[in-house]
Amino acid sequence: MKVVKTVKEVREIVAGWRKEGLTVGLVPTMGFLHEGHQSLIRKSASQNDRTVVSVFVNPIQFGPNEDLEAYPRDLNRDMQKVEEAGGNLIFNPEPAEMYPGHFTSFIDTTETTELLCGAVRPVHFRGVCTVVGKLFNIVCPDRAYFGQKDAQQLATVKRFVRDLNFPVEIVPCPIVREDDGLAKSSRNTYLNADERQAALILSKSLKLGKQAIEAGERDAQKVIDIIRKNLETEPMARIDYVEVVDFENIQRTASIQGEVLVAIAVYIGKTRLIDNFIVNI
Ligand code: PAJ
Repeated sequence: MKVVKTVKEVREIVAGWRKEGLTVGLVPTMGFLHEGHQSLIRKSASQNDRTVVSVFVNPIQFGPNEDLEAYPRDLNRDMQKVEEAGGNLIFNPEPAEMYPGHFTSFIDTTETTELLCGAVRPVHFRGVCTVVGKLFNIVCPDRAYFGQKDAQQLATVKRFVRDLNFPVEIVPCPIVREDDGLAKSSRNTYLNADERQAALILSKSLKLGKQAIEAGERDAQKVIDIIRKNLETEPMARIDYVEVVDFENIQRTASIQGEVLVAIAVYIGKTRLIDNFIVNI
């Protein structure tokens, strides 16, 4: 698997592909790849002639007390995972390549980033949108792939791509889970055995919320209460948020109608996990 470190190299390779008339997909990641990431790479490989995977732990999307240093990294393993899933090139820049001195320009969004993770991680989405915008300008992909695991990120990327006229199609991809229901995440590696077991409370609680909606519940607060109550049965869990919002604008909705995102963030020990489901009624 070819790995390039500089903007210049990735641009040259993509320009060569373009000359041959090939289409290009981009899968932005922070590495330590798992089957969730691989599902995005596979989807891209099925829809494009070439797939670029970026592996970059983006410092500017981490707050001062977050896990930038601890975030797991293993490029050799990632190379295998990209190969397996049908990717063609890894872009793995150093922070200085992406953020040279006097870096002062950012993509900032409103509305979709006010609630959920945006409310509790103030610099996070500015960092995400800025790096994703840079990657779009570096790779110039036809399509880019984002997981519904990070539903607010997906809604926000869709929004800035529309607002700022980036010529790229955003392709959403479903959440990939472990057999027992836990959403796959690079951060699951932080969990010890007891915490790993306790973490099942996220998907179990969401399932109860979803079942209530399927049984006809349309009151968002009632769905929130069902999920909260179940999360509270797990002593190792500390709720960060449980929210019901419209998926497009990420604004609260009192009734379950249209495309609605039910999203939670929960600390299990020191590890903050997120999970969600989307219904369309
Ligand atoms: P990262 O957490 O590495 O995720 C990269 C992509 O993989 C995201 O689009 C995410 O939603 C998707 N993904 C992660 N786990 C998934 C799962 N279980 N099922 C389906 N998709 C999953 O998200 C980021 O990196 C960064 O914020 C990034 C967009 C790369 C910008 O730095």
